[in-house]
Amino acid sequence: MINKLNEEESKIILFAGSKGGCGCSFMTYCVSTYFARETTKNILLLDLNIGKRDSRLIFNLADDSCRDLGDIEEVINEMDDSILKRLVVNLGSSLNLILPPIKIEKNKIFRKEYFEKLLDILKEHFDIICVDFPYYLFTQDKFRLKDMVDKYIFISLPDFISVNNLNVLARSIISDEFSYDFDIAINKFNTRPAVSLTGINTILSYPVNAFIPYDRDIEFLMLNKGPDSIFNYNLRIVNNISAFSKKIYEDLSK
Ligand SMILES: Nc1ncnc2c1ncn2[C@@H]1O[C@H](COP(=O)(O)OP(=O)(O)OP(=O)(O)O)[C@@H](O)[C@H]1O
Ligand SMILES: [Mg+2]
Repeated sequence: MINKLNEEESKIILFAGSKGGCGCSFMTYCVSTYFARETTKNILLLDLNIGKRDSRLIFNLADDSCRDLGDIEEVINEMDDSILKRLVVNLGSSLNLILPPIKIEKNKIFRKEYFEKLLDILKEHFDIICVDFPYYLFTQDKFRLKDMVDKYIFISLPDFISVNNLNVLARSIISDEFSYDFDIAINKFNTRPAVSLTGINTILSYPVNAFIPYDRDIEFLMLNKGPDSIFNYNLRIVNNISAFSKKIYEDLSK
């Protein structure tokens, strides 16, 4: 058990990927699950991928009975604790999930005023909020992200194009390295064709904080049993994810 998160204030961690399918959701699910297992903090996984079923499938909520961010449109002007409480899906233990709308037109929550209110209310109830943040939302320029996010996690595959795009992504958000807390993870680093570590370091202007291997059995396990199950295995991928999650937690505790 690690339990040091000094400040009273809750923390927002934003996960973003340099390319579709790079493992952004995978990492968000794993890290938030690790926090729920290894700390006594109240954890929220906020999935902002409108129109995507990923989290419903991975957490076995596929029957559509759960509410999502699209369901509060009628009452969005009166958004308060009680409305948001009804949105939160408890996944057992201290892990909670807010689902994205499946209908892409139900996107009112992404308007600046609503989105900021949403985060403000959520911060009252959760110690750590892990946001699965699709790349296109960066282009909306609506959110004062810098004021809201405590830590950014950038995820990339190890191929040449992804690493180049990762550099662009990080650069566009991190205007100066000293006033931002961010980590970079290279996912599926053992897949080919890959850029060598030297190559990655030449392209990237920032250091890499974690290398996560691809593991076929873990992909299968995630799909069938969910992220909690992977932590029962003593595999390299699990150890790397645990170590990275621990580092993120310790950084937030500083
Ligand atoms: N290191 C890994 N080992 C095994 N499977 C992985 C790993 N990383 C990701 N996966 C699997 O690869 C697939 C794609 O990953 P994921 O959906 O997380 O990518 P994404 O960046 O969120 O994609 P999208 O752009 O659709 O949001 C998923 O099935 C996921 O479980
Ligand atoms: Mg995703």
